[in-house]
Amino acid sequence: MSGYIVTGGAGFIGSMLVRRLLREGVGKITVIDNMLTGHEENLAEVRDGVDLHRVDICDYDAIAPLVRGAGTVFHLAAIPSVPRSIREPVPSHEVNADGTFNVFRACSEGGVGRVVYAASSSAYGDTEVLPKVETMAPRPKSPYAVQKLLGEYYASVFYSCFNLDTVCLRFFNVYGPRQDPTSPYSGVISIFMRSVVERTTPTIHGDGEQSRDFTYVEDVVELCLKASRAKGVAGKMYNAGNGNRYTLNQVWSTLTRIEGVDIPPKYGPPREGDVRDSQADTTAAVRDLGHAPRFSLEEGLRRTLAWYREHGH
Ligand SMILES: NC(=O)c1ccc[n+]([C@@H]2O[C@H](COP(=O)([O-])OP(=O)(O)OC[C@H]3O[C@@H](n4cnc5c(N)ncnc54)[C@H](O)[C@@H]3O)[C@@H](O)[C@H]2O)c1
Repeated sequence: MSGYIVTGGAGFIGSMLVRRLLREGVGKITVIDNMLTGHEENLAEVRDGVDLHRVDICDYDAIAPLVRGAGTVFHLAAIPSVPRSIREPVPSHEVNADGTFNVFRACSEGGVGRVVYAASSSAYGDTEVLPKVETMAPRPKSPYAVQKLLGEYYASVFYSCFNLDTVCLRFFNVYGPRQDPTSPYSGVISIFMRSVVERTTPTIHGDGEQSRDFTYVEDVVELCLKASRAKGVAGKMYNAGNGNRYTLNQVWSTLTRIEGVDIPPKYGPPREGDVRDSQADTTAAVRDLGHAPRFSLEEGLRRTLAWYREHGH
């Protein structure tokens, strides 16, 4: 079995994964993306290596022939936002829950070799213990968190009931080049990048002391690849974080220091559904998948900032 498919491959993380796969020289990569939050320009200089299908994962009949017989499917397509899932729970459920079910079903019926599923650290919710370990009971706080968790449960059940080889990675606040800063639902670091480059004041939701395990996108993409090739991990779920924890205030002050500017942030009301603190225990991913994150927060921010400066967001 051969061939790589990336759902959501025109998005932020997906397009970085496509680039990483192309560097391996594995042939053309099939991308399934309806361009809801993704953009063809995210694939600009690698476009020739991509077989792009503008297809909705909610359309089973459209995706089934595309995934049939593939070696590996990376399932990243989603509406990836906590606040959006609260404001628009129906489309969020349709894509993240029903669409994900469709992908697993199509992969199972199509004899796919392995599915790597982009799960989310939001599944942990506000469990008090830090860092978060995979064995903790989940406590989702938003429709988005429930939907992503449901995807994990389906991944596990498609393995146990239908013998589909699946591996779930719980991503923890991924950041890096090509993260879209233009929507109110955008990830916080992309919004910070835009503010620092344009010299505008960012609004931090809450007191800024909420903390996250910010993970540079290349570390996540590397782990996706490792998860697609590791032995003895079918049906399992792993944290895909960096193992550190920084507050939003720390991130903003690091970024302004790197840029050499002094812009105090504004503070606004906390965001609904947000968890307070998040940090991954990476022991299992290191042991079973060979996870070895390479980028410190400072290095990741420097690289990301260089990209936003060059691309003028
Ligand atoms: N960015 C993070 O910090 C983070 C954290 C945890 C989990 N994740 C997960 O990682 C994955 C990728 O997220 P991202 O940050 O790159 O976001 P993104 O919005 O850039 O990528 C999502 C992609 O899915 C596509 N898509 C949306 N609905 C679709 C549909 N119905 N059919 C086909 N394609 C569809 C979008 O057009 C987009 O290209 C998501 O599954 C998300 O839940 C991300």
